[in-house]
Amino acid sequence: MTKVAVLGASGQIGQPLSLLLKSSPLVTELRLYDVVHAIGVATDLNHIDTRAKVSGYLPADNGLEKTLTGAELVIIPAGIARKPGMTRDDLFKTNANVIADLLSGVAKFCPTAFVAIITNPVNSTVPIAVEVLKKAGVFNPRKIFGVTTLDVVRASTFVAHVLGEQDPQKFKVPVVGGHSGATILPLFSQSQPSVELSKEQLDAITYRVQFGGDEIVKSKAGAGSATTCMAYAGFRFAQAIIKASKGETGIVEPAYVYLPGVSGGEEVAKKLGIDYFAVPIEFGAEGATKAFDIGKLSAYEEDLLKTAVQELKGNISKGEDHVRVAT
Ligand code: NAI
Repeated sequence: MTKVAVLGASGQIGQPLSLLLKSSPLVTELRLYDVVHAIGVATDLNHIDTRAKVSGYLPADNGLEKTLTGAELVIIPAGIARKPGMTRDDLFKTNANVIADLLSGVAKFCPTAFVAIITNPVNSTVPIAVEVLKKAGVFNPRKIFGVTTLDVVRASTFVAHVLGEQDPQKFKVPVVGGHSGATILPLFSQSQPSVELSKEQLDAITYRVQFGGDEIVKSKAGAGSATTCMAYAGFRFAQAIIKASKGETGIVEPAYVYLPGVSGGEEVAKKLGIDYFAVPIEFGAEGATKAFDIGKLSAYEEDLLKTAVQELKGNISKGEDHVRVAT
């Protein structure tokens, strides 16, 4: 796979993410779409001496159709981001419509593409996307993902910081659940290598993974939310999909998926009583080949799981209802 489209490419995530994609030898064609500036961003990136050919499109002149036709991977950071005092759910009203519109385009112009959704609230925007694809009769649960990689990146980073370790990438910590506050469930009991944490340390880093986004929103004081770290995480996720599509095996990254549609996911969905959940996913040429179980949780994590599932259920039906009620 070589043709990648970024929708929302002029934004604070879209631009650094597009830069990373342009820098990658895995990408030969990069299409950028946004309601503003996408043509200029493309011109700028085209001065970089890598082989990916970049083109930019606006909504005029069938820009979305031109962006999506032939695209193999569509990454979506389009919409609005949080300001101080806002939760991800506060973004719903605007971003729900953005995602529904863009996914109608995907259904029409590149129905077999992989779709990676960054736009918040991910817990609800993914169910919206799924409902739109279902309505169009082109839903493939193995190819549509909510991007939760940033939570995984944060878990490695924060556990290394609290233990005074130099290399955060040494720690692989599964993060399951959703992508907002209490729905994010880092499983430090399953860290590899295993880690010894005091109750205070565990409380502190669990909270930091769950609410790390707020830390950035506050620190940027109105200028945006997580952007460069999200571009890094989004690129890591895109790489996983592209590498697997080219035949590389053994690639596992957590993602927020429609569990019953992925091999192994149905059992997890039944056990948890919920259809959408982020779990470690194994990728193959045709997308998600396996959803891994969440494994044995500590008593501490079991408690957090109950809250996460409860909150997620509301987020999921809000997304589904947005499309179902509109029909
Ligand atoms: P931003 O406001 O800088 O960029 C959003 C871009 O989307 C803008 O360029 C805007 O013109 C464009 N846009 C708006 N409506 C559009 C439409 N209908 N079609 C095409 N483009 C459209 O926001 P930023 O910081 O880049 O964040 C983007 C999204 O990513 C937000 O919803 C944010 O909450 C989410 N996010 C998700 C994370 C995750 O882990 N999944 C982490 C951080 C942010």
